[in-house]
Amino acid sequence: MAERAAYFKSLDSALKTAGIYQPSLIIDLDRLDQNIDTLLADLPDGMAYRIVAKSLPVPKLLAHIRQRAGTDRLMTFNLPMLLDLSHSMPDATQLLGKPLPAAAFKDFLGQASDGALDRIYWLIDTPERLAAYSQIAQDAGQSINVVVELDVGLHRGGFELGDELHASLTQLKQSNVLQFQGFMGYEPHLASIPTALGWRERTKRGAWDTYTKANALAGEIFGETYTRDTLRNVAGSPTYRLYKDTKIGNEVSVGSALVKPTDFDTELLEPFIPACFIATPVLKATGATRLPGLEFTETINRIVSPDTALTFFTHGGKWMATPVDPPNLKYNKVFGRSSNQEMLNGPADTDLKPDDFIFLRPHQSEAVLLQFGDITIIRDQKVIDHWPTFKISA
Ligand SMILES: Cc1ncc(COP(=O)(O)O)c(C=O)c1O
Repeated sequence: MAERAAYFKSLDSALKTAGIYQPSLIIDLDRLDQNIDTLLADLPDGMAYRIVAKSLPVPKLLAHIRQRAGTDRLMTFNLPMLLDLSHSMPDATQLLGKPLPAAAFKDFLGQASDGALDRIYWLIDTPERLAAYSQIAQDAGQSINVVVELDVGLHRGGFELGDELHASLTQLKQSNVLQFQGFMGYEPHLASIPTALGWRERTKRGAWDTYTKANALAGEIFGETYTRDTLRNVAGSPTYRLYKDTKIGNEVSVGSALVKPTDFDTELLEPFIPACFIATPVLKATGATRLPGLEFTETINRIVSPDTALTFFTHGGKWMATPVDPPNLKYNKVFGRSSNQEMLNGPADTDLKPDDFIFLRPHQSEAVLLQFGDITIIRDQKVIDHWPTFKISA
């Protein structure tokens, strides 16, 4: 019989003991803590850590990570999250991970509580957005913090080196409502560029060269007020380990690596362990795999593909996820995917009966974590709590 991993066997009984029978998203706090410690141990001296809230869209999870990591820095990606966190975590700073429409900025000014604005860093990617935010801030009589998005090679927008960057930094220097607080330059592409023929190394040097030149320009324009402590945000989960000192960036943003969905199974993130899973009960174990209208293929199929001999239907399905336990379960391409009752096939020795749980690893966290209602929290292999999620993540 194909052995179930001891870890998943014990999760299966923890979920049954807790009376869970719905598809659930599980976060294992012991594994998460191990990942937080791995991350912190890795950071060079002086490198600050900012939590990417969209990749971990659960307020209590953010509070837990803040406490263990000792950071008050969050990266936020939409107005509801920004408002929610500025109320629930008034002592945290929030850097926008993408530039929000000017209307969202205006909306925030109308709703934010006193003092919230001081701890928000608005991301500006173009001269047009700079002008729009400047006008809104002037009209509201409010002063705001601004961080400038640099294009360091990802080409997802942001300023390139050149006249526009120069003019916008000069405008920031002259403004009485916009306070320049630094740069953000995100470069996840570095992790996916092949290392062959020094390609990745060359691209990395290009990205860092751009950042260094932007720093020098800011130094020229802002003089002594542009210090080593001015915000220089870099990286994401795939790339933070490339930074061995604080010459380029002085702060890394990391979210997904802490729960490690499968998209983050990379060489650089090898020390991290999966800490989030989907658990869903088997509703039906129907025996030999039979496909509608193709019943005549059953015998031949059993001989030709013994690894898909049995069929199981799960409670829900069609998630962005890969089955991991019991081992060797596969989706059936001919039957197709289903969000209601998904067919999974496994070998003849699959140890699974109705009401047992199947475990899957999400491909990414930001969208998948929002699909199950409250998150099921595991500590010491027991269900200890259920934590609500944000309504939207990205
Ligand atoms: C600006 C920015 N920084 C950092 C990240 C890294 O997030 P994660 O660590 O979850 O990959 C992202 C992800 O989209 C991002 O957009």
